[in-house]
Amino acid sequence: MTSHFHAAPLHEEFGTTLTGIDLKAPLSAPQIEAIRVAIDEHSFVCFPDQFLDDDQQLAFTRLLGEPEPNHVILGQTGQVNYFGSIGNVDENGVRHGNMAKGVVFQTGNNMWHTDSSFRKVPSMVSIMSVHEVPDEGGETLFVSARAAYDRLSDAEKQEIDPLIAIHDYVFSRSKVAPDAVTPEHAASLPPVPQKLVRRNPRNGRANYYVGSHAKVIDGWDEARSRALLDDLLARATGPAHILTHRWQPGELVIWDNRCLLHRGAGYDADRYRRYMRQTRVTGAGPTPDE
Ligand code: SIN
Repeated sequence: MTSHFHAAPLHEEFGTTLTGIDLKAPLSAPQIEAIRVAIDEHSFVCFPDQFLDDDQQLAFTRLLGEPEPNHVILGQTGQVNYFGSIGNVDENGVRHGNMAKGVVFQTGNNMWHTDSSFRKVPSMVSIMSVHEVPDEGGETLFVSARAAYDRLSDAEKQEIDPLIAIHDYVFSRSKVAPDAVTPEHAASLPPVPQKLVRRNPRNGRANYYVGSHAKVIDGWDEARSRALLDDLLARATGPAHILTHRWQPGELVIWDNRCLLHRGAGYDADRYRRYMRQTRVTGAGPTPDE
């Protein structure tokens, strides 16, 4: 499969850069399958120098599965839009500063999380096309919850394997911008159950599924839940396990939300422009059914 591109690892636990393929050209079925294999194997796949526009990005997203509607637009207006803008540049190309509502709202992404874990059917992968990046800051940090699961003892694995966590967007966003979640948006995202341990359907590799949206373990009290969820998160996110990704204009990056955690490093929106376009592919179904 790797004969479809040249691969270079990014971190000893996960991540690869793939070159030698043009994602704007029509892709063959074997090439698409090779990309799927790379996602399942490496969890984070970076294609430099692609420069996809929105139409090309959406077409590429559809090759991997069903695009996921942006939950903010859907919850607030009922409209389906498959894009989210990451950064501080609006649809008119205007830069917004640190105190702008949308910029403050996005600081919620600076907590470790996995995209859409608060949806009944969470995201499989996120796809980022990079347009403008700050001269300093603005990196995104990634860790593998698959590698973290592998580091647990057998007894710890047995303890967490059957558990269900409740993920709740209003809970996580209340930490940074409580007023930004409108009543309509909140009503569209009730708390949902997610398996605490998930397995990749192709290779069977297990990981735990935690992050900022995970509020409580089903059937456990808050204190006991927090102790476990915080401990799992801390053990996944130690410095040695972090891939710090410095975005480059033109890159197309895919990351596997089923098994990676990520967070923004922050940047000075008063000084710099940051503009990246994100689409997501929705997951196969509710995780308790996996
Ligand atoms: C994200 O959470 O999807 C992006 C985080 C960032 O702003 O780097």
